[in-house]
Amino acid sequence: MSKHPSFWVVIPAAGVGSRMRADRPKQYLQLADRTILEHTLDCFLGHPGLKGMVVSLAADDPWWPSLGYASDPRIRRAEGGVERADSVLGGLRLLSELGAGADDWVLVHDAARPNLAREDLDRLLSELAGDPVGGLLAVPVRDTLKRVGPDGRVLETVDRSVIWQAYTPQMFRFSALQEALVGALAENVAITDEASALEWAGQSPRLIEGRADNLKITRPEDLQWLQQRWKS
Ligand code: CTP
Ligand code: MG
Repeated sequence: MSKHPSFWVVIPAAGVGSRMRADRPKQYLQLADRTILEHTLDCFLGHPGLKGMVVSLAADDPWWPSLGYASDPRIRRAEGGVERADSVLGGLRLLSELGAGADDWVLVHDAARPNLAREDLDRLLSELAGDPVGGLLAVPVRDTLKRVGPDGRVLETVDRSVIWQAYTPQMFRFSALQEALVGALAENVAITDEASALEWAGQSPRLIEGRADNLKITRPEDLQWLQQRWKS
């Protein structure tokens, strides 16, 4: 492994945001003064430890060109795909053209998570830089968990002390991530995040505890909650 791997960022932003039920993909909805996607990009721009950043967009995305960042040389546009994993792979292809090496680190962060704190990003980078596998920001679940039957009634209470919610960024080595994603996709394994691809490949990603307010905007109430918070 090279002694000084670089750190790259991939922002998958090719989703349609069906659960938001808005008139456009959620990354283009407004949060305070800018779009969600612009805030997300701001979480990384200017960070001295990062080598480059790509954003994976749908081929026919009509909104991106109207953002100021569309012409920012620090952000390169990659090809999104049908599944999130396809969009991440599109980002990796572009990173490879930009010179990313096999052992370089790649941070994948959802376009729909605009509230990533710099301290969380820094902790992820410093805690995992020497890790053989990599890992992700995660949050221990807070509520009591129930397993439910088909009739909507509780079967049992689940031990929550061993259950964490997977957040992003998720940070893995370029080649390990690419191979795991390609392999898992080829075998039709359900992969909803990068860690699950690495798990499929037999690796154990490390969890780094992050802030719970690095939430992914999924439903309308998530955006309302962040809008309120950013006002105060
Ligand atoms: N994403 C992507 N390419 C896809 C699907 C999702 O780049 N084919 C991105 C989304 O743009 C988002 C992130 O992956 O930034 C997390 O996905 P999710 O929250 O599920 O977003 P959407 O798929 O857009 O929303 P929904 O599932 O409600 O349709
Ligand atoms: Mg989705």
